[in-house]
Amino acid sequence: MHESVLLEETIKSLNLKDDSIVVDMTLGFAGHSSQILKRIKNGYLFAFDQDEEALSYSKEKLLSIAPNFQIIDSNFIFAKEKLEKLNVRKVDAILYDLGVSSPQLDEDYRGFSYRFDAPLDMRMDKDNPLTAKIIVNTYSFKDLKKIFKDYGESKFSTSIANAIIKYRSKKEISTTLELVDIIKSAVPYKEKIKKHPAKQIFQALRIEVNNELFVLKKSLNDALELLDINGRLAVITFHSLEDKIVKHKFIEVTEIDNISKGLPNIPLDKQPNYRLITKKGIKASSEELSRNNRAHSATLRVIERIK
Ligand SMILES: C[S@@+](CC[C@H](N)C(=O)[O-])C[C@H]1O[C@@H](n2cnc3c(N)ncnc32)[C@H](O)[C@@H]1O
Repeated sequence: MHESVLLEETIKSLNLKDDSIVVDMTLGFAGHSSQILKRIKNGYLFAFDQDEEALSYSKEKLLSIAPNFQIIDSNFIFAKEKLEKLNVRKVDAILYDLGVSSPQLDEDYRGFSYRFDAPLDMRMDKDNPLTAKIIVNTYSFKDLKKIFKDYGESKFSTSIANAIIKYRSKKEISTTLELVDIIKSAVPYKEKIKKHPAKQIFQALRIEVNNELFVLKKSLNDALELLDINGRLAVITFHSLEDKIVKHKFIEVTEIDNISKGLPNIPLDKQPNYRLITKKGIKASSEELSRNNRAHSATLRVIERIK
């Protein structure tokens, strides 16, 4: 089962009140949402996900706690529009716990994991036309290399892209373990024993299949607008590219411009609309790290709307 990461720290940082209106952008298996619902007896929770199994499991789980929630089966990139349709224009707290859940990773048929043999799929949303199989079999050498370098931060992007092009000229690449073998063949032995060489490449493909960085950037802008005054936005990321996006966005909206900084009194219209709650990203405690391996790469950042 999925063990929620940074659970206590996140719930505390959202500063929930009994009547808070809350949006969980990544419901998953409702670990965070359950804790939220318990704290907002006179409030309301809207929770998004696009994973069928997560949605049906979490609906039952939340119903066993309280009825004041609505689950929305959608990519969170559409959250603002979906909420507007429900006449929700301002909310008190928003949470993102990004990436995939442990059950998604462990379901061998989804193709997220390099540990099980499965069709190369990696779609979080089954209606998405793009799969990992299409990417590895049709993208150019240049595009594959770019994805592996930018999204996987792999040192071996050139040799892995080359190995893929060579292999697919003879045979279509269909399964995860077929791809793992191709990746292994393109990475020096010394590197292979340090860490699994497919980890970064699988991460890169998942990000490309689900357009994750674009979706996050667009959605963060919407979330900042959705926040009411005194509202909090908390984001848990699992790799450096996501964290950079969140960190830079949070800095951008909390900074005072250079001219105003020098003034004895900063005019109200030059004061930022948000303030950072976490100056540095929060990492999991050693106690959490000892029981949950996923927590190692997690970073929590929180921002508050002040005007
Ligand atoms: C790490 S899990 C969340 C776990 C959850 N916080 C819990 O405690 O159980 C991330 C979830 O977000 C969902 N997800 C990721 N990207 C999404 C997107 N763009 N739109 C909607 N759901 C998304 C995944 O399907 C997955 O269920």
